[in-house]
Amino acid sequence: MDQHHDDHAHQGPPPKEVSHPVLWTVGLLVSAAVIVGFFVYWWGIGAVHGRDLGPIPLKPKAAPPVDHAALIADRGDAVLAKGELIYANKCASCHGADGTQPTAGHIRNLAKDAFKAPDGGGPYGFFLTLTNGLGAQMPAYKASLSVEDRYAVTHFVREKIVKTKNADHYLADDPAPVKAKIPRPTAGGTGAGEAEVVPWEVKPPKGIEALMAHDAAAAERRIAALQGWVAASGLGSVDSAALAAARPGHLDALAAAARQGADGEVAGVAVLARILPLRSQSELADIHRRLAAAPAGVPQ
Ligand code: HEC
Repeated sequence: MDQHHDDHAHQGPPPKEVSHPVLWTVGLLVSAAVIVGFFVYWWGIGAVHGRDLGPIPLKPKAAPPVDHAALIADRGDAVLAKGELIYANKCASCHGADGTQPTAGHIRNLAKDAFKAPDGGGPYGFFLTLTNGLGAQMPAYKASLSVEDRYAVTHFVREKIVKTKNADHYLADDPAPVKAKIPRPTAGGTGAGEAEVVPWEVKPPKGIEALMAHDAAAAERRIAALQGWVAASGLGSVDSAALAAARPGHLDALAAAARQGADGEVAGVAVLARILPLRSQSELADIHRRLAAAPAGVPQ
């Protein structure tokens, strides 16, 4: 600064200092401190929260897809050994240690009896019996055994007990109707044996269904009326057929134009041009006039 002033001393008074460097510096330091402080505080809060809450899941984990076909096919030693353990833990108390000695008369003798569940004793039918239980006495294992575990015990009982001691009632495969029920692998399927949820197959509530049926019936009557109108207008059979097959929205637009007679000609011709693309404008105008003059009137 001094150097600067000296340089200009001979040219007149030094230029007036319009800003104060100390104030600027202090201002800069204060804003930097505020920004740094804000982030430190912010991170501090975040850390404290994180410690209290533990990891926060971004979204619920989807259940892994269940591949029933693969589980039905896998009857290897590891699976059978696992099934044997589960059998000892969960089933032997009722069905007997080796399946031949049920502990009460109403319990199925796995080494002798037939399968009576509606889906039978094939691999998937057996799995469904375990999943949903049977009658009042055979428990459901949907909640207490995983899908894999239910298949493991299914395979153990079928391959090691039924097949060897009860061969008459051993089914290598499920009957076709049961097989058809085997769910395909789905992401997020529950694997509880129930069919996968297909949104467009979910039925709406009763009242809504009635309303929809009512609307659908009304819509069908309207389409029939429009098609009858086209047929009665005395157009050539080719044109009548093309118009009768047109989209309901197009037919409605045609009827709306026809109700206006000559005033609706432009609109009518525009719609007709989409349904009968090969006709000339004058032919379309003629068709519009015939539709407007239909003997039985234009549907409202
Ligand atoms: C609390 C006793 C009890 C336990 C535990 C039990 N069951 Fe049963 N189980 C029954 C009874 C009772 C029936 C007969 C049900 C009926 O016919 O109404 C039966 C029937 C069955 C059937 C015949 C199904 C059919 O189609 O006829 C199979 C297979 C079976 N159990 C397997 C198992 C397996 C595997 C386990 C272990 C995961 C198991 N059960 C655990 C009581 C039990």
